[in-house]
Amino acid sequence: MLKGKTAVITGASRGIGRAIALLMAQNGADVAAIYSGNEQAADAVCAVASDIGVAAKAYKCNVADFTQTQLTCKEICNDFGGVDILVNNAGITKDNLLLRMSESDFDEVVGVNLKGAFNFIKHLSRAIMKSQSGRIINISSVSGIAGNVGQANYSAAKSGLIGLTKTVARELAGKGVTCNAIAPGFIETDMTADLSQTIKDQIQSSVPLKRMGRPEEIAELAVFLASEKSSYITGEVITVDGGMCM
Ligand code: NAI
Repeated sequence: MLKGKTAVITGASRGIGRAIALLMAQNGADVAAIYSGNEQAADAVCAVASDIGVAAKAYKCNVADFTQTQLTCKEICNDFGGVDILVNNAGITKDNLLLRMSESDFDEVVGVNLKGAFNFIKHLSRAIMKSQSGRIINISSVSGIAGNVGQANYSAAKSGLIGLTKTVARELAGKGVTCNAIAPGFIETDMTADLSQTIKDQIQSSVPLKRMGRPEEIAELAVFLASEKSSYITGEVITVDGGMCM
């Protein structure tokens, strides 16, 4: 479904990003896997992708850093000869009630989750516009739609991503590029691993499907949105949350 395409996935070393990178590879896309710290894990993702038979390379880059992302995007374009798909998946949380939230925790979370996406879109949009069917997918969150106690920084960033998605969708539509957001609910990854059993039980009971989601369930939608099959969908926010936010 994605044969001959090059996909850039940020935060690809684990969790949802890893699942997206591997499913893109299984569907034939070459993969540029962006990671921030764990080189071994990123290389392991690339090794699995290479075994599948696609080209794959890991790039260390802090998505929040404008200059670093610029250099990394140049390197990717040189290595792969172009980019067709960008998935802005890298994200962090630093939860606290508003009254206790520090300025640095706010800035850091917005820096990675929101500015990180801006940085990659900014530095790759020229390359993506050259693709006949460019795709940009931003991983938002249900927190960005409904808000969430303790996540003023995160929900502001994820909400901001929705505005960014719609604007990019409008600005790049003339070049055949689509831009959509996925808003996951609670997904079983390292990000949610530390939640207490009480919170997990609360989540479980508030989700109509009565369970947390799996990274692969986000990856399936990402691959669909990256493919020709989604050619008339742009500027959308699609929730994958077991019915929690309907
Ligand atoms: P995770 O913590 O397992 O993975 C996040 C990835 O982002 C890691 O690979 C990490 O190295 C990378 N990353 C963090 N800061 C970075 C930086 N400055 N530069 C480059 N990479 C950086 O989390 P998970 O669950 O896989 O999350 C993926 C995305 O999905 C995030 O944007 C998250 O906000 C979003 N999401 C996750 C939900 C969940 O329940 N797990 C729910 C809703 C959204």
